[in-house]
Amino acid sequence: MVPRHIAVIMDGNGRWAKKRLLPRSAGHREGMKRMIALCDHAFEAGVEYVTLYALSAENLTRPQEEVDGLFALFRKYFAENIGRLLEKGVRLKVIGDGALLPPDIVQLSREGEERTAAGEKGILVLAIGYGGRQEILRAVNEAVRGGKELSQEGFSSLLSTAGIPDPDLLIRTGKEKRLSNFLLWQCAYTELYFSDKMFPAFTNADLDRALENYAGRERRYGKV
Ligand code: FPP
Repeated sequence: MVPRHIAVIMDGNGRWAKKRLLPRSAGHREGMKRMIALCDHAFEAGVEYVTLYALSAENLTRPQEEVDGLFALFRKYFAENIGRLLEKGVRLKVIGDGALLPPDIVQLSREGEERTAAGEKGILVLAIGYGGRQEILRAVNEAVRGGKELSQEGFSSLLSTAGIPDPDLLIRTGKEKRLSNFLLWQCAYTELYFSDKMFPAFTNADLDRALENYAGRERRYGKV
């Protein structure tokens, strides 16, 4: 079965570039190209939701030059790709803490969301300035202010992913095997898939392999 929702931690851009004696920014540029093609491929394969970890809240502590380079890439992405998403019927949603981002990127995100709001062929969720613990804490504080006990569904509805089903499959490239503060609540029963390939080298065929691997898994959700 094709997973309805895949989440991807796109790790390894820097190491990919280093191995080729290129600046880290070249790795991120190549990663963006790969991410665009990979999304198309995932939606064509029947995946309905693709959530990508484009920038964690913690990544913002990297050297300013690298962070600015990533912001420039996001601007380029919004300028060049909203039209493509529209053509493909893909709806964009951006999650993360907008207060951590330059205001024009927040504005471009909102415009992209509004322009693609009628898309029905797939949903692309970009996590920018995102942190799972921060998201949970925001929701907890909101719940406390509300003063009522919540169900799991009620709590989920306070998160930035409200209305989006939990990921079925989480893919992390770049050899590391950790969640790095990504979708902590949402991934409670998500199947995990790790690839040793650096993200810019993770091909559409590699994604097919991950989807095939998922198809062979038995999901028991703690039952027998
Ligand atoms: C992690 O690799 C990757 C990032 C922090 C940035 C990911 C961003 C992209 C792939 C560009 C996506 C663009 C858009 C518009 C969504 P790393 O830098 O931590 O690599 P390393 O672990 O090898 O150093």
